[in-house]
Amino acid sequence: MPGIRADILLSFKREITGNNIRIMNFIDTHSHIYLEEFDADLPEVIERARLAGITQILLPNVNSTTIERLLRVCNEYKGYCYPMIGLHPTSVDGDYEKELAIIEKELATSNLYIAIGEVGLDLYWDKIYLKEQIIVFDTQIQWALKYDLPLIIHSRDAFEQIYEVMKPYKDLSLKGIFHSFTGSVEDANRLLEFDGFMLGINGVVTFKNSPLPEAVKHIPIERVVLETDAPYLTPVPYRGKRNESAHLKYTLMKLSEIYGVLPELIAKQSTLNALKVFGIF
Ligand code: NI
Repeated sequence: MPGIRADILLSFKREITGNNIRIMNFIDTHSHIYLEEFDADLPEVIERARLAGITQILLPNVNSTTIERLLRVCNEYKGYCYPMIGLHPTSVDGDYEKELAIIEKELATSNLYIAIGEVGLDLYWDKIYLKEQIIVFDTQIQWALKYDLPLIIHSRDAFEQIYEVMKPYKDLSLKGIFHSFTGSVEDANRLLEFDGFMLGINGVVTFKNSPLPEAVKHIPIERVVLETDAPYLTPVPYRGKRNESAHLKYTLMKLSEIYGVLPELIAKQSTLNALKVFGIF
């Protein structure tokens, strides 16, 4: 893709970082704004997201204790916030069967959920429950197939293990997002072997000295979706503070820089990609 003139890019940058100018629309495909970090000011957070051009915010669940808040927020902002249901790997311990049963009941008795998420493997903190995490992940992959819903996958220090669990499902109709992708070009290429999947890019791509932009350059724009993972992973210039959906514009601008295309193209293509995965809007 040919690069665009720096002055044009700069003028777009000015427009998008201005507060009230709505020049493009895009989707935050992964946000936890139902958590208590947002209890004090959620209406303002939603308003800022709308002003920034965010058209939908998709909310992955964590565990049985977060379902009520998740649904409350999605009910309050119907048509704007959409819930997913799943058991997060960091919530998996010896008691996982009870948790899974609650999640499965939600899935079977409600038609509100747009995806299974977030699920996956997390070996960053410890590996004590690796066996249990794998059982829970695999079970939820099967639910995604059974209910024909996309799968939102969290992977932390577990790339090979994620790949191993998913390998048998490669040729099936699974679709979804490898959320918070931060790997190498080689990692990206292996994940993109799963045809129905996109890579979720968030604020990490804006961090100073991050090797991620170099990898992202080689990922086809047709396989990228935008996400915040709010309240976490806040992009520069707000790194270190609470993240929120409106900050997604900084990740979008960074992608525009990396790919050398107008931000509007990133907004449009990433929205199309999200629509392809979720197919609901
Ligand atoms: Ni998350």
